[in-house]
Amino acid sequence: MGFSGQFRPGQFLVLVVVLSLGPGPTRSCLQCDPNFTARFASYAPRLSRKSWGLGDVPATGRQLRGWTNDTLEELQLGVPAEIPMENLTTIASKVYEKLEVLFKGKTYKQGVLPDLLHSIFQEQVSMLRNAIIESRVKCQWHCGISQYDAVSCVTCTSVKPTCFGYNCESSEQWESALKGLYAYIKKLHKEPGKEWSAMLKQIPGFSHCTSKSVDNLNFTSIENTLSKNWLNVMALKELEGDLPLMQLLAPSC
Ligand SMILES: *[C@@H]1O[C@H](CO)[C@@H](O)[C@H](O)[C@H]1NC(C)=O
Ligand SMILES: *[C@@H]1O[C@H](CO)[C@@H](O)[C@H](O)[C@H]1NC(C)=O
Ligand SMILES: *[C@@H]1O[C@H](CO)[C@@H](O)[C@H](O)[C@H]1NC(C)=O
Repeated sequence: MGFSGQFRPGQFLVLVVVLSLGPGPTRSCLQCDPNFTARFASYAPRLSRKSWGLGDVPATGRQLRGWTNDTLEELQLGVPAEIPMENLTTIASKVYEKLEVLFKGKTYKQGVLPDLLHSIFQEQVSMLRNAIIESRVKCQWHCGISQYDAVSCVTCTSVKPTCFGYNCESSEQWESALKGLYAYIKKLHKEPGKEWSAMLKQIPGFSHCTSKSVDNLNFTSIENTLSKNWLNVMALKELEGDLPLMQLLAPSC
């Protein structure tokens, strides 16, 4: 996957939290870039003007047309596909650049063009996957609730993914992290057009929650469970220093 090398090992912990969110629907991401349509529309006509290998033109055309859907198949994330716009722009530019070079190319031996296109496609998928996961992991590498600006690959609209991090150093910090979490949960209903219970499920660790109202939540039980997680995280950090890979307990709620 490639992203692991860029992190301090302690961040594997938050990855476990992230990946336990369950699968979310995804589309290709790249189609959310404003230049996507124009760029991709320009590649197909160029195909017919060269002497590519027999059968390569229709194969390549199919690959280009399927780009968005095939990315969906390949991404296979356990988290919602939400990517910071600056990462998306960078990845899109890299992909366009590679495609430009590919289609500017002279002629290719038979069968080579679809292979080259496929490797650009795969590289794109892993760049997207890394950026989506990296931004989540960074967000969770905090103490308490934090958020970041991203674009949803499903709807291409702006979203604010929310995370809850256990990286608190003292019990005072932990207390205020919990207060922040409760305050966040309580004001969820103020988000326009969003259902409170659906928003609650978006918080890491709360994806299984069936509560329909804040009054049904047992904050004492939530506090006990989350505090157990925090203490385990602290103990593991102490013990192993670098790799607290653990399954976090989910609060009953
Ligand atoms: C992509 O998937 C959508 C929804 O499943 C479908 O309607 C559309 O025809 C597909 N496009 C291509 C090019 O396969
Ligand atoms: C999109 O097009 C605009 C105008 O041509 C350009 O400034 C921008 O860098 C392009 N973005 C990407 C991701 O290629
Ligand atoms: C995403 O964007 C941020 C800010 O520009 C950058 O620091 C980070 O390296 C990018 N991540 C990836 C995976 O490209």
